[in-house]
Amino acid sequence: MLKPFAVREHEKMKEVLMHPDASGPEIHYYMIRGGVDKGNITVWETGTVGREYIKTYGHYHVGKIGETYYVLGGEGVILLQIRKKDAEGNPIDDQIENFYAIRVKAGASVYMPSGTAHLAANTGKAWLVTTDDSPVNFEEVDPVALPGHADYEPIKKLKGFAYYLVEDNGQPTLVKNPNYKSAPEPEWLTPEEYTQKESK
Ligand SMILES: [Fe+2]
Repeated sequence: MLKPFAVREHEKMKEVLMHPDASGPEIHYYMIRGGVDKGNITVWETGTVGREYIKTYGHYHVGKIGETYYVLGGEGVILLQIRKKDAEGNPIDDQIENFYAIRVKAGASVYMPSGTAHLAANTGKAWLVTTDDSPVNFEEVDPVALPGHADYEPIKKLKGFAYYLVEDNGQPTLVKNPNYKSAPEPEWLTPEEYTQKESK
């Protein structure tokens, strides 16, 4: 039977938080999954955990799968990172080539190409709500399981992305994750600037 509803709990999110021991809401975000045809809806809780904005876990895609996120409500920041490659062309998990932070609000859309890890954080006072068109594996027995098209291991291993998005005097600021060997200065972009850069 299809089980489209899933939630991501604090307990699981501890794996990728800047401060895993800080207290937070029991549920960080809610998902209704419909895959490529019906789309997927994600709803973020508001607030911070140890100054870090409530965010999705973050993942790379397995294979050549891109996806587009449309922001339906609220405001947030999408973080994207691309890994460096070794001589054989294999990605190096703890060495980042590009890191982008994109401020979004209702009406914005951002395309995430394959090979680009992505997460989104809620920086507003209301629910952040998005819809996306990424494929979902409905064979999953456990609806709380992570989607089948996604690779969460590099993010889990390094306890999050190369930068954490934290609140500093009411403003979102990026703080480097010390588990990464190298990462460039993050680039703050509008959705339009990112789209131009990505299409080159
Ligand atoms: Fe994804």
